[in-house]
Amino acid sequence: MTSSLTLTRPDDWHLHVRDGAALQTVVPHTAAQFGRAIIMPNLKPPVTTAELALAYKSRIMAKAKAAGVVACKLYPAGATTNSDAGVTDLKKIYPTLEAMQKVGMLLLVHGEVTSSDIDLFDREAAFIDTQLIPLRRDFPELKIVFEHITTQDAADYVMAADRFVGATLTAHHLLYNRNAIFTGGIRPHYYCLPVLKREKHRVALLNAATSGNTRFFLGTDSAPHPAHLKEHASGCAGCYTAHAALEMYAEAFDSVGKLAQLEAFASFNGADFYGLPRNTGTITLKREAWTPPESFQFGEAELKPLRSGEALPWRVA
Ligand code: DOR
Ligand code: ZN
Repeated sequence: MTSSLTLTRPDDWHLHVRDGAALQTVVPHTAAQFGRAIIMPNLKPPVTTAELALAYKSRIMAKAKAAGVVACKLYPAGATTNSDAGVTDLKKIYPTLEAMQKVGMLLLVHGEVTSSDIDLFDREAAFIDTQLIPLRRDFPELKIVFEHITTQDAADYVMAADRFVGATLTAHHLLYNRNAIFTGGIRPHYYCLPVLKREKHRVALLNAATSGNTRFFLGTDSAPHPAHLKEHASGCAGCYTAHAALEMYAEAFDSVGKLAQLEAFASFNGADFYGLPRNTGTITLKREAWTPPESFQFGEAELKPLRSGEALPWRVA
């Protein structure tokens, strides 16, 4: 049994860190493990211009020595946290997509439709059929990252696609199915978007992540919220995993005997897809059970991480 694993320093290709005082807690968690991160803003007001993006980047950089990359994130309006100002019709942004395709800028998509007549659990599959397939037909050389995929449908789609389509996978979608949200009562800390799906989807995602296909890579979608707003009549979506991200991915890969695939998934595939250099340092994981804190301070509030107070089998040395 492997007891220790050394990897090239990984990157997180999908991360939320919020703003202001919250940065103090969450940025150091990510900076302790990852070389770089794609920060998904989901702020109010939204980050819509290069100027706003650079100002936000400098606030984050004040807390970490990470590098930054510019791409564009597509949020269907209403699909997730603070996405009310999102895109209502892809056709409206066709001139932007045309320009992005030309200069090789990546489009990062939250792939869910939002119409109320589509079952919540079918939103990702419907997005592929009604949005992604037409989009790819109209912009075949636009590089797209299908973010935090949650279904077998999405894994199959990306697997069959060409070099212009990649996908990020979260640790929580590799470890849990939708039962986690309802075990012994409603468990708001397992509620995220896209929502956890059936076991067959989790298995398909884990197969994709560990398959050796280079277009699947790590993106935690770690999404901190104040605990009182998750434990609420209308609790917000997001699982916080940055405090133990690599440990959770190691647990998932280990569960299918595929630890040897973790380095490519965590440290090579994303950088290669983005056309960026791979990191140079290393990070070591040890098989050593430990229990993360029940909560972290989060500005004036509390932040409860996923699995709070529960032991994890792997630990970053
Ligand atoms: O669960 C989620 N939380 N999914 C998202 O897409 C956004 C994120 C957040 O910002 O809270
Ligand atoms: Zn996200």
